[in-house]
Amino acid sequence: MDYRSEFRRSVDQPDSFWREQAHQIDWIEAPKTIWQPTDNGHGQWFPDGTLNTSDVALDANIRAGRGDQTALIYDSPVTGTKRSYTYQQLTDQVALFAGALKAQGVTKGDRVIIYMPMIPEAVIAMLGCARLGAIHSVVFGGFAAHELSVRVDDAKPKVIITASCGIEINRVVEYKPLLNKALEQASHQPELCVVYQRPQATADMQAGRDLDWQELMANAEPAAPVAVKSTDPLYILYTSGTTGKPKGVVRDNGGHAVALKYSMKLVYDAHPGDVYWAASDVGWVVGHSYIVYAPLFAGCTTVLYEGKPVKTPDAGAFWRVVQDHKVNLLFTAPTAFRAVRKEDPEADQLSRYDIRSLKRIFLAGERLDPPTYDWLKEHTRLPVLDHWWQTETGWAICCNPVGLEMMATRPGSATVPSPGFDVRVVDAKGHSVPTGEQGQIAVKLPLPPGCMMTIWGDDERFRKSYFDPIPGFYSSGDGGYIDSDGYVFVMGRTDDVINVAGHRLSTGEMEEVVASHPAVAECCVVGVHDEMKGQVPVGLVLVKDGATIDHDELEEELVEMVRERIGAIACFRRSMVVERLPKTRSGKILRRVIRQIADGESYNVPSTIDDPAILDEISEQFQH
Ligand code: COA
Ligand code: AMP
Repeated sequence: MDYRSEFRRSVDQPDSFWREQAHQIDWIEAPKTIWQPTDNGHGQWFPDGTLNTSDVALDANIRAGRGDQTALIYDSPVTGTKRSYTYQQLTDQVALFAGALKAQGVTKGDRVIIYMPMIPEAVIAMLGCARLGAIHSVVFGGFAAHELSVRVDDAKPKVIITASCGIEINRVVEYKPLLNKALEQASHQPELCVVYQRPQATADMQAGRDLDWQELMANAEPAAPVAVKSTDPLYILYTSGTTGKPKGVVRDNGGHAVALKYSMKLVYDAHPGDVYWAASDVGWVVGHSYIVYAPLFAGCTTVLYEGKPVKTPDAGAFWRVVQDHKVNLLFTAPTAFRAVRKEDPEADQLSRYDIRSLKRIFLAGERLDPPTYDWLKEHTRLPVLDHWWQTETGWAICCNPVGLEMMATRPGSATVPSPGFDVRVVDAKGHSVPTGEQGQIAVKLPLPPGCMMTIWGDDERFRKSYFDPIPGFYSSGDGGYIDSDGYVFVMGRTDDVINVAGHRLSTGEMEEVVASHPAVAECCVVGVHDEMKGQVPVGLVLVKDGATIDHDELEEELVEMVRERIGAIACFRRSMVVERLPKTRSGKILRRVIRQIADGESYNVPSTIDDPAILDEISEQFQH
């Protein structure tokens, strides 16, 4: 079927469309009801179906005769390790780990936090939870103790699974002291912490609370998949909102499996046996969907890469992995290739490797800037495909639907809406804007399967954040436009969320940290353009009357505070002291104008500004 017909059918007859897609996965009990609205503003997919996600990802492949096929390849340049697992071996490990958790009393609905680096045990832990119907919540290893403690208090896990360390190029990041500190800060305490000891660091164990992964596994009995309802939560993944409190995005089991299986065909045209590599981290949604779940649902081989695009050991790292594992489909963030291009502008490294296995390169996580697109195209001569999605949706809202038909690419555009996503560009009142004009990107309800079910423990915030702003639509938080051929151009967030090296961060959260410094009277943090990372945060601070702190010293302290509270990943490295902050007469800080000044863009002086002269002062500061 061609794209247009499939898209029309998906939005005109969503029930029959998704009923058909639901046949593509193994249910324990197939659903009779396809969609049903709920009173949190949205609805549920396949509410009377039952399944087990680890069964769909693993056992179903064994039943289909793929037991001896490689399911997972672990490639770790930072430890000099390569290891692979067949579907049978991965299933055995997952069943054993699930058995170990079960023996510790973990059951359906219990929360388990996973704070781990990019090692196979992280994948085994996720799938092990899914096997029991326990809800995992993976916390990215680059987050500081405080961020972890916030998630512990929100998810209230029975168990936390961690490793002794992660490895950042050649720096060992010990996780256990961070976990201990997080638990000192948290009100909620888990019953148990499971620690995977790596040779690069040995974690101290707290008697009565901490158990060793290897010892647990040595004594475990394998556990069978537990039947869960389609609508039971599979995981909670925290993402940045506009306030300091992260949102716990809740994903279901059934809709997730159906949508991701469909996406592997539609978006990536992946087939069983293909080697699929998402160079991301299991701590992000890309890692959840396309390192762990979707490639396994589709019977592919997934690559788990513990390294960076550069410096592990050089800018040829990605091409080396493609060659060594005969990768067919590669997915990463544009920032990764900007880093490669910076170190290897003529792509000399590429000629050292045989990348003939590679069929397509996919990019997402931030806007694919045309120079990066052109560079990749020129040097690889492969299709370079942008696609737009969010933690909330779990899969691409817009893509080049290569599984149906390959559409002409347009640099700067994520191409067209994926079937199921009725994408519109609207003004603040929800009225469609004319073709080619910028507005807010919204999706007409219902959202397709795979999208978030709610915010953990906060239906109210879910409704207020996503559905109240424009009744009848999901508000994406992104702005952009649709051209006359239906191509969608996503230009960036319209809220206080910024994108730093493909990582989603909240400026509001950073402001809370900066404002807590005793010398700071008021502050704001904006995301300014950065050549490699897309955006980086910069703080503007007003010091309290009488505060005598040296400005460089203040900057150093603020940088350290953000690192300590949020993590190095925030890349908060710059702050400047200003005399006043530009505000409207009603007291709202003009963040957008500040960002435009910082980026050297032209801007309109808002008529509501209380003191226009301040803009020139800020402009001068940025020029320094
Ligand atoms: N654990 C601990 N610390 C981490 C971490 C982790 N998992 N990941 C990053 N950090 C730290 C880094 O060590 C660095 O610390 P430093 O300030 O002490 O040097 C800081 O966080 C910033 O890291 P990073 O963003 O990786 O910056 P970089 O300059 O070292 O590398 C890139 C730049 C572009 C190579 C890197 O950002 C990258 O690989 N980006 C791709 C990200 C990605 O795949 N996103 C996908 C989401 S879809
Ligand atoms: P995350 O939830 O971390 O995946 O971040 C989602 C945000 O990243 C989106 O709201 C966008 O702002 C941005 N984003 C992701 N993919 C793209 C893309 N292909 N083009 C433009 N922005 C993107």
